[in-house]
Amino acid sequence: MTSSSLLIVNARIVNEGRIGEGDVLIRGGRIEQVGPGLGGQPADRVIDAHGRYLLPGMIDDQVHFREPGLTHKGDIGSESAAAVAGGITSFMDMPNTNPPTTTRAALANKYLAATGRAHANFAFYLGATNDNIDEIRALGPEQACGLKVFMGASTGNMLVDDPRTLERIFADSPVLIATHCEDTPLIRANEQRYREQYGDEVPVSAHPLIRSAEACYRSSSLAVGLARQHDARLHVLHLTTAREMDLFTPGPVRGKRITAEVCVHHLYLDEGDYAEFGNLIKCNPAIKGAADREALLAALEEDRIDVVATDHAPHLLREKDEPYLRAPSGLPLVQHALPLMLEHHHDGRLDLPTIVRKTSHAVADLFGIADRGYVREGYWADLVLVDLQRGLEVRGDDMLCKVGWSPFEGRRLRSQVALTLVNGVVAWEDGALTGEIAGRRLDCHSAR
Ligand code: DOR
Repeated sequence: MTSSSLLIVNARIVNEGRIGEGDVLIRGGRIEQVGPGLGGQPADRVIDAHGRYLLPGMIDDQVHFREPGLTHKGDIGSESAAAVAGGITSFMDMPNTNPPTTTRAALANKYLAATGRAHANFAFYLGATNDNIDEIRALGPEQACGLKVFMGASTGNMLVDDPRTLERIFADSPVLIATHCEDTPLIRANEQRYREQYGDEVPVSAHPLIRSAEACYRSSSLAVGLARQHDARLHVLHLTTAREMDLFTPGPVRGKRITAEVCVHHLYLDEGDYAEFGNLIKCNPAIKGAADREALLAALEEDRIDVVATDHAPHLLREKDEPYLRAPSGLPLVQHALPLMLEHHHDGRLDLPTIVRKTSHAVADLFGIADRGYVREGYWADLVLVDLQRGLEVRGDDMLCKVGWSPFEGRRLRSQVALTLVNGVVAWEDGALTGEIAGRRLDCHSAR
């Protein structure tokens, strides 16, 4: 339902380190007023949020929505619908599509494809290859949210492993460099050892040993070294190991030249979970040990890791049914992104302001996103009402992403997203999409 003005009253607003009871008046898609005592203001619609928490929507800086070319697994419409259900109001989509997004023309096509179809706000990464340095150099900072560099091979054929190309990228990229860090030669050698032992029947429990902590460290330390050498703006994606934490410095995101991301599944699962979930949680980088998971949570709290994303990466269930070595890596996550993060609140591990800082404020700061990521007057009304008392059961029938499954089916999560507003428009309410499609192109400026 579209409302040109909307008043939310009696919410517990989680914003900028505080939780305070208050009201929010929204007009023309933006937050007009925040404060107590707005109850009498005229509005087309009034929502009494008593007992619920109002958060700035999650800005997910890493998703794979599979368009173009892989739309049997997902597309911008289907996956962004799932995203708003999970409290995500903006997303940044990766270039390992078919064809890959490695030219400015392909990038422009993606923005066109998203316009009018995205349930959440959007931005796209340009992808690096071993031979598109000219495209990279010509990229305007407003054309992409960043440059994605697969310094380790993963889904798609986008490995950048030529040392001279990496040097040039780190010297010349006009935008933030976002890296997937895993050392491919070491992974190949590890895999070979397991093949010699098990043949084609390597168990999935070997995944974190093949895609090992050492493979992560070799690659992320290389990226950090290159960034320091060239004073490049580096963002290392989906960290998974305790050992890598030393590469990053604690402190607020503003002013940092090297930042870090962790993903919801690496915070929620550890290697003990392969026995239950098998290939469903096979992803790159691999989910590692319990001590790693603990170190990631601790690094979030001390702002050593700056932001949380999903790395939503849908694959067909029948592909996941293949033996471990053939099953693709990645899992669908956007639909339960915020409820999964809120599990750490229920466990007493992360407080609500920290969750909001990592899923929204810091992402907006890190990518230089204009007028989003905070509950502030004048900002776009990208807001989420969460109910911490009413949980939800993850059910296959409720999945909105195209592949239609979640590894967490049958699990109860202790929170639910009651309402999602994108640019002031209700996109998700009481367990259903409203059908409103209000996503806009993000205005981000992640200059190097
Ligand atoms: O597990 C993953 N899946 N990691 C990636 O880096 C890519 C992603 C995908 O696109 O499937």
